[in-house]
Amino acid sequence: VALRSVVVELPIRPYTIHIGPRALARAGTLAPPSRDGQAAAIVADETTGQLFGAELLAGLREGGWRPQLVTVPPGEASKTLGVAGPLWGRLADLGLDRGSAVFALGGGVVGDLAGFVAATYMRGIDFITVPTTLLAQVDSSVGGKVGVDLPQAKNLVGAFHQPRAVLIDPGTLASLPERQFVAGLAEVVKHAAIADGGLFEDLARSAERVLTRDPDLLAGIIARNCAIKASVVARDPEERTGLRAVLNYGHTIGHAVERGAAAWGVLHGEAVAVGMVAESRVAARLGLSRADVPERLRTLLEALHVPTDVARSEIDVDLARRALKADKKIVGGTLALPVVPELGRAELTTAVPTDELVSEVEDLLRQA
Ligand SMILES: NC(=O)c1ccc[n+]([C@@H]2O[C@H](COP(=O)([O-])OP(=O)(O)OC[C@H]3O[C@@H](n4cnc5c(N)ncnc54)[C@H](O)[C@@H]3O)[C@@H](O)[C@H]2O)c1
Ligand SMILES: [Zn+2]
Repeated sequence: VALRSVVVELPIRPYTIHIGPRALARAGTLAPPSRDGQAAAIVADETTGQLFGAELLAGLREGGWRPQLVTVPPGEASKTLGVAGPLWGRLADLGLDRGSAVFALGGGVVGDLAGFVAATYMRGIDFITVPTTLLAQVDSSVGGKVGVDLPQAKNLVGAFHQPRAVLIDPGTLASLPERQFVAGLAEVVKHAAIADGGLFEDLARSAERVLTRDPDLLAGIIARNCAIKASVVARDPEERTGLRAVLNYGHTIGHAVERGAAAWGVLHGEAVAVGMVAESRVAARLGLSRADVPERLRTLLEALHVPTDVARSEIDVDLARRALKADKKIVGGTLALPVVPELGRAELTTAVPTDELVSEVEDLLRQA
């Protein structure tokens, strides 16, 4: 089967996202080859290392690399300086030099952590993402945002470090826990809502087949998602013009829900789904979008089994409210909020007062 490819057209150095079966086994030819037998580190978590480490190791050996697998415990707790510190040391012990590369094999946690370590080791060495969660395949592995969490906040320390290539095998998703897969679908719906009305309709038509994780169907969907993210990233690689902010659709209320429900283990994608529906209701109420957007969003998310509300018993509303008010994007009581005037198109607006969002969060939770 032929691989699909999507190019991220960055001005200085474009890179290619390769999508299809056996992408890991073919890493030796898809990723930049080693110039002369250099050391490479595959950073994985224990789960992804166990599942896919051998295939990627073999693929890289064929490309002339001397790869070593380094694993960290699975979970967000690994995205910290306490884990990054020893990783830098491991790269040094393995003899990685400026011609070496770090391969991030796993979900967004591994991608952000390994990317951060690659961005800073020897002031930056090559980095290739090999995402294995749906969230990472459609979102976090493209765009170059890397970093770690601090006790004070998530993603507080980091860098922009664009990968040299992205290798995606949709077949890896077969082993992903159902809840993780479905949470990733929330970002798929987000991309469709902000940029591709045709994709939105295709998802509505094929929802049941999407849930079977048919790798060929997923390869097409992932490619369209990567193309959307790539085009936004190419126009605003380091989030300077504000353009890239449309990718935060649903994330203002989403982040507040994520904070408020963290103790109950809400996943990022689940919080974003709630956020998109809630933000779309505010936009429709203020006349900033077509009236049918909230219902169509909710219908598609539900067809894909993505929950669109949080139980009142599973969120600390005060914490959510405070998180919303402290949102770093809010300046002087208003914020540049992405809205979807009609499905398939997004724009930024400052016409939504923060109070409207706060009251929406309160209503939303009262109903749930
Ligand atoms: N850099 C960005 O632009 C960006 C964007 C969005 C999210 N993120 C970050 O991504 C992180 C979340 O990523 P995530 O949702 O991928 O979580 P994750 O990396 O923790 O992976 C979720 C779980 O799935 C397991 N797993 C991964 N692939 C598997 C597979 N194929 N089969 C079975 N199990 C598998 C992992 O071991 C882990 O336990 C957060 O830290 C978030 O901040 C970054
Ligand atoms: Zn997100």
